[in-house]
Amino acid sequence: TIPVLMDCDPGHDDAIALVMAHRSPVIDLLGVTTVCGNAPPERTTSNALRIMQFIDATDVPVAQGCVTPLARPLVLGTADGPTGLDGTTYLPEATMPLVPMHGVDFIAKILREAPEPVVLVPTGPLTNIAMFLLKYPELKHKIDKIVLMGGAFYRRTEYITPTEFNIFCDPEAARIVLDSGLDIIMVGLDVTMHVLVEEEQFAELRKIESPLGKVVLDWLKFYEKLHRGQMGVGGALHDPLALAAVIDPTLIETREAHVEIDLTGTYTFGATVADFWNERKLGNNTRIATRVDSGRFFELMYSLLRD
Ligand code: BDR
Ligand code: CA
Repeated sequence: TIPVLMDCDPGHDDAIALVMAHRSPVIDLLGVTTVCGNAPPERTTSNALRIMQFIDATDVPVAQGCVTPLARPLVLGTADGPTGLDGTTYLPEATMPLVPMHGVDFIAKILREAPEPVVLVPTGPLTNIAMFLLKYPELKHKIDKIVLMGGAFYRRTEYITPTEFNIFCDPEAARIVLDSGLDIIMVGLDVTMHVLVEEEQFAELRKIESPLGKVVLDWLKFYEKLHRGQMGVGGALHDPLALAAVIDPTLIETREAHVEIDLTGTYTFGATVADFWNERKLGNNTRIATRVDSGRFFELMYSLLRD
């Protein structure tokens, strides 16, 4: 199994990524940390706890991380409703306790205790991961790789073009992570905007008659409607795709590049700028997902929700 730590801001798509991680037989989910992004930090945290409790994952520790981006005021995401997880009445408030430790220190604890290097899967702004790298550089070797949801490179963008929300929300953190020298895979909008929940996918999801199937359907109905209003297409499963690429790396194709984050652009800060041809001789610092097999992604997702 692959030891994984998830850092997230649930968020409907984060929520589904958490469910998939917990249910996948190839992943050993060591812990979950939360960050602000789609909703304020107390909401992303209580959402994470509610999700984990609902799927009987109370043995997976959840810790709350940073409550603001590193250097900018928090701008909330708009894709998930005010609670960050609107759409279902079927998800009780959590009684499972939060780890009594800051998320950044908790990442250090998990990595220190892990017998082998761990895969980090950040699906929110990169604040916690950047803080961890600044605070615990001696533990960097315990990170096997980082498979993150973030970035927009070719043409499919959303939010304020040409940026992607997770990077836009904390661009300084993204730069710190990209400068780390770690093995990084960026699963950005170029691929995630090709895994859309629309009528065909709803038909499959309706066949999953378990309580989990019903909650996921409620979430996605809400999420799809909001997306359609904002972007004219169905709900993009951004974060589940990043997680799925850990379970099955063949779901995506990647291309190496040097990526810089625009930190000063008046209207483009947070943009991910890739030097694909190594024109500036800076060396590659990441692998960018360029293609996705969406059919196989959905098969994987259904199978994990079904079993
Ligand atoms: C990212 O932003 C959030 O709204 C989603 O959860 C995803 O992580 C997509 O840009
Ligand atoms: Ca997210």
